[in-house]
Amino acid sequence: MLKKFTTLVATAALSTMLLTGVALAEPIVIKFTHVVAENTPKGQMANKFKDLVAERMGGKVVVEVYPSSQLFGDNKEMEAMLLGDVQLAAPALAKFERFTKQVQVFDLPFLFKDMEAVDRFQSSDKGQALLKSMEKKGVVGLGYLHNGLKQLSASSPLRVPADASGKKFRIMTSDVLAAQFQAVNAIPLKKAFSEVFTLLQTKAIDGQENTYSNIYSQKFFEIQPYITESNHGLLDYMIVSSSEFWLGLPADIRTELEAIMAESVTFGNKIAGQKDLEDKQKIIDSKRTEIITLTPAERSQWVEAMKPVWKQFEKEIGKDLIDSAFQSNN
Ligand code: SIN
Repeated sequence: MLKKFTTLVATAALSTMLLTGVALAEPIVIKFTHVVAENTPKGQMANKFKDLVAERMGGKVVVEVYPSSQLFGDNKEMEAMLLGDVQLAAPALAKFERFTKQVQVFDLPFLFKDMEAVDRFQSSDKGQALLKSMEKKGVVGLGYLHNGLKQLSASSPLRVPADASGKKFRIMTSDVLAAQFQAVNAIPLKKAFSEVFTLLQTKAIDGQENTYSNIYSQKFFEIQPYITESNHGLLDYMIVSSSEFWLGLPADIRTELEAIMAESVTFGNKIAGQKDLEDKQKIIDSKRTEIITLTPAERSQWVEAMKPVWKQFEKEIGKDLIDSAFQSNN
């Protein structure tokens, strides 16, 4: 009986294919891995991409999103992508050091005065060229995505650089960020994002740097009594795929996906600005932590202490690139 039924189904499928002339091809599956919560600019952008692809390319392409380091932590996601275990990732720009030295320009402290300057630089020829800077390593940059400017959270108040001296701070895997903390005699520790909450909770570290969105969504504000609004650096992302996968896609599919990607990034960038303000307000409302506003004189001390890092990395990054990024402030 079962055999008869199976044969009938197979015959029906074959007749459909013969009638329509179309083989029922399997959809292309794109796994998008990331390390943050869904309620963040990156989380929302990834979900938007997935929804738009389902709406407009249903049947041809399916996007699966894996948030919160569910599939791979941030020290594994690039390898996973190059091995073909996932097809899309959007690591913080600070996490590309092994693939390109130039992208480190984005980590230089106090380089961008606001997100408009970041936008201007990212959309300039030099900014766009950085998306291609890892192609020899098999990585293709598909676009930039904002989170925002970073603040310093700590177990004690940080008003001037001397307050950070001797304190341990978790950083992303970037030598520029290490140098930035060394410049104020602090101790930087490169650790995965998924470990930060526990490191802070167990007091293995004294502080960390991040955006309001990540400080809120990861609950760092519940265990860090002080946040210094320093806006000292940038946390943005590059959406990447492996050249092998992306360039191997049929041209029409790739073009459609790139258009949807651009639309999703615009959506994510809009959310980033809103979330920065909203999550800061939620942190204030929680009364769990004090947000320290620096006086201009206090802020100048941080700038003066950290800015020599630019010179330190001038050779690796390129003076031209640093100058162009800085000029985007005008
Ligand atoms: C992220 O926003 O993707 C993670 C940032 C971090 O590692 O601090």
